[in-house]
Amino acid sequence: MVENVLQVFQNKVTLPQTKRFLSNEEINILAERYGTPLYFIDEKTLHDKLVELHHAYKKFQGDVKIAYSVKANFNPSVLKTFMKDGITFDLTSLGELYFIKRLNGVPENIIYTSVTEELDEYIEVLKNGIRRIVVSSYYGFVNLSKAASIVNIRPKIMVRINPEVGVKAGVRASYKNGKFGVPFNGGKIDSAYFIVKSIFSNPLLDFEGFHFHLGSQITNFICYVNALERLNSLINKLKKVINNFSITTLDIGGGTPVFYNHPVPAPDEIASIYIQKLNNLVSNHGNFTLMIESGRFLVAESSILISKIVNTKEYNDHKIIILDTGYHLLLDAALLKQQYPQEAIPCKNDIYKMNIESKGNPSVKNIHLAGRLCDTLDVFPISKVSDLSCATIGNYVLFYNIGAYSLVFNMPFHCQTKPPVLMKTIDNDFKLIRKGTSYEELFIEEGGQIA
Ligand SMILES: Cc1ncc(COP(=O)(O)O)c(C=O)c1O
Repeated sequence: MVENVLQVFQNKVTLPQTKRFLSNEEINILAERYGTPLYFIDEKTLHDKLVELHHAYKKFQGDVKIAYSVKANFNPSVLKTFMKDGITFDLTSLGELYFIKRLNGVPENIIYTSVTEELDEYIEVLKNGIRRIVVSSYYGFVNLSKAASIVNIRPKIMVRINPEVGVKAGVRASYKNGKFGVPFNGGKIDSAYFIVKSIFSNPLLDFEGFHFHLGSQITNFICYVNALERLNSLINKLKKVINNFSITTLDIGGGTPVFYNHPVPAPDEIASIYIQKLNNLVSNHGNFTLMIESGRFLVAESSILISKIVNTKEYNDHKIIILDTGYHLLLDAALLKQQYPQEAIPCKNDIYKMNIESKGNPSVKNIHLAGRLCDTLDVFPISKVSDLSCATIGNYVLFYNIGAYSLVFNMPFHCQTKPPVLMKTIDNDFKLIRKGTSYEELFIEEGGQIA
């Protein structure tokens, strides 16, 4: 059954899931007013993606909650949009907690997963009313126990397991002897088996369940099947040594992929591969809440980056298009060679329209989309669906599906400032949700006044 479904995905050619929520006219007016580069976020897409992801798990025999991984985009207006939908927030740092608190987020809607797991951090987290905390090491568990007795609060502890299954993904998070979580067992203190037993032997602590995160931009979903089978064995083992052992929450992490260069299955197609395994866990071990984390899927398609073509040059059969943006605004283009779909606009006359292969001018075989930075790596990989046929000086290049892991990576390399961000609101208004920064602000931030 699983193989059949995978086969269908491989054969299926879906249309590019790029979304134009802006007209050329709107782009012209707003780019004139705010300058380029310029980010746009569509509030409706944020909401629609949340509904789509939640809906994908409707065949699960229990409650389903979606947790937004704030690391993907912590813009306060994005967080507020999700807050209105009552989402859970997956937090990893005190900084992220600060943002949620400033927006009056409720602690019940937070799950906190730290990598460092320091005592002071856990004290702060508990004092802020967070109860669902994921531990990822024995030392982290000890720190959380100490914090709980200092603050006199009973946390609901989840254990982050590293299922150590093979994962095919843009970024793998689970691999043998990896950084995240603990293995199932192995006789050492840093094992899920040992940590769970330790939680049950402390009357001041509650055990909530398990968490795993396999990777981001996952391309083969059999890893969930394998991870859930391994988890089932662990639970069976724990039931033999702990009376009435059960789980209240199972969090299966993020990883739902997004269209960049290759077709990706929809969340309900993905869920269909392992929903039976999840329901088997319910039948075998009792009801639990299923938590689906997501960063990329929830925000990527909501956003477009608009940049201007400021120069071009042609030699031999190559054309170099130089933009006023660079990888300082889309770091994954350099880090992960992410092929964001691009489109050059406007195309005034279709006679001049050329596609990537022919480009109108038959002598030009290779198009390069180059950034403004003086760095060899600052050349944007081009997606198969990109249309740069109207790439002439003064036109715009739109980068689609850039809402995840882009704004949060903005950096001032080459003394570059941060561009403004506009949100197209549900009621079709445009709202400035982040001001662009100036050279003077950057100068001060870098210590210019004390130099
Ligand atoms: C623990 C955890 N959960 C969820 C995510 C989100 O992954 P994605 O953006 O692929 O959904 C991440 C990403 O790094 C993560 O580390």
